[in-house]
Parts: sequence; C-alpha cells; structure tokens
Amino acid sequence: MLELIPLTDGIGTEVRGIDVTGDISDADFDRIYRAWIDTTVLLFRDQDMTPAQHIAFTKRFGEIYTYTRSQFNHDEHPEILILSNLTRDGKPIGSAYSGRVWHSDGHYLTEPPVGSMLYAREVPPVGGDTWFANMVAAYDALPERTKERIDGLKVIISRVQSRPYNYPDRPAPTPEERAEWVDVAQPLVRVHEESGRKAIYAGGNVPWRIEGMPEEESAPLITFLQEFSVRPRFTYRHQWRPGDIVLWDNRSAMHRATYYDHVAHRRLMHRTTLAGRPSAGTGTAP
Ligand code: SIN
Repeated sequence: MLELIPLTDGIGTEVRGIDVTGDISDADFDRIYRAWIDTTVLLFRDQDMTPAQHIAFTKRFGEIYTYTRSQFNHDEHPEILILSNLTRDGKPIGSAYSGRVWHSDGHYLTEPPVGSMLYAREVPPVGGDTWFANMVAAYDALPERTKERIDGLKVIISRVQSRPYNYPDRPAPTPEERAEWVDVAQPLVRVHEESGRKAIYAGGNVPWRIEGMPEEESAPLITFLQEFSVRPRFTYRHQWRPGDIVLWDNRSAMHRATYYDHVAHRRLMHRTTLAGRPSAGTGTAP
C-alpha cells in the first residue's frame, strides 16, 4: 500500500509501498506527483530498474530532456546521463565531478529542465551524498522587505562562466560553444507554474548577477540568498543506498553533490532529466 512519509519537516517525501517498474494506478500516481510538487524531493528505496524502466518511469512525470553532445550519455539509452568515476578502456564512462556546487540542473538554458531523477546503482561506503534545498520554503521565510526587494528582478546566468563550477572535469568551452551559449535571464523569484508558489532561483557559487544592478550590490544580494536558502531547516542530505531513486523538482529545489574517495571507491549513478516548460516569472525589474 502506498505510503508518503516526510523526509524532514522542511523538504522531501519518501514514497513507500511502490515498485516503480510495476503498475502504479492513476490514483496512486496522482498522490505521488502531488507530493513531488508540494515537497520538491521524492525518495524511493530498494528499487531495481533497467535503463528502459528508468526512462518509462520518468516519462510518467513528463517529457525527457536528452543532453545533446554529451559523451556521458548511456550508449544504448541516450536519455540517461551517467554520473560516475568508473572507466572503460581507460576512458571515463560518466561525469565524475559534476554538480558539487549548489545548483539546479540546466539553469543556463532558456527553459531549464523541470526535474531530474537520479538512480543509485553503486555507491561509496562513505561520502558521495547529495544535498537538496527547498527554495520555496526559503522564499517563504525571507523577511518581507527582502521579498519586496527581489520580486521582479532577473538573474543573468552565463553557461560559459558556469562551466568550470558545474563540470570541472570537462574541457573549457570551445570558441563555437562560447558563441552559441548566450547568457540567459531568469526571474530571481520563480513562480512554479503548477503550484503557483514562489521560489528563490539563485544557484550557488557560480557567477550569477542581477540584471541592471551594479556588481557591488548584486554580488552580496545573490550570496545572501544562496546562503539563506541552504540553512539546515530548508535542506536534506541524502545518503545513498544502491537501489535508491531520488526525483527532485528543479523549479523549487537546488542540489549539490558531495565528495568521496573516488580512488578507493566506485560510484555509478544514472540520471534522467525532465524537459523544461516556460516559467512564469514575476516580470522584469522595475
Ligand atoms: C547532479 O547534480 O545531478 C548530481 C548529483 C549527484 O551526483 O549526487
């Protein structure tokens, strides 16, 4: 029988009593989907799924976004992105160091992916955890004066400048990529198109700036929002076990991978990504 158990008071739900490869009734799926929107992170333990089943389960939540030109897509199922320190014939099979700063996936795209589903196949005994932050709860807790100050502002996100932070093991952008990767402006306060709730949209540690605001004002404001959002009451640290699936909502959560001993231990994770939809911002800066 389906059970929905809070992971913490501030973020996440563990979904129990479900085999994600089996038939999930529409009524049960609706409850799971609602818990995802309401609490931003879902955990399913002890799941055993093939890549095809992973893709099928992801598709119940929406359309899949496939990373283009990624050398770390699964050979037979390019919808799956491999995150791993493992090698084959001396070559990495996955991205080993991605996501170690607070971020939301694909924040540099005009329509960032709405969610990501990460499946643990092999995990180290210590470390390699993933942190999640509830950006809706963080927004709700901001002082009213700060909300008034930031509603309507836009952040300018540079994919070129984000690259070394998000993917330190990937080569620097080529001249063609630099030309193609134009900066995008996103609402600093993002209105979730399904829940209607507001979330802070300010990924961490990457050089984001606020449109039309001098650098000396923009940088401390972004830093304040990033640090505020990852206070313990808004966060959950997931310690992975093989067979865990975590689905997060990129519209209302940030996440961050942590370090582990990548020489001594193996980590193999498969990720699918849910395609973006137009976001409802709060307008342009006054
Ligand atoms: C990610 O940013 O999607 C990776 C998270 C992880 O590997 O723990």
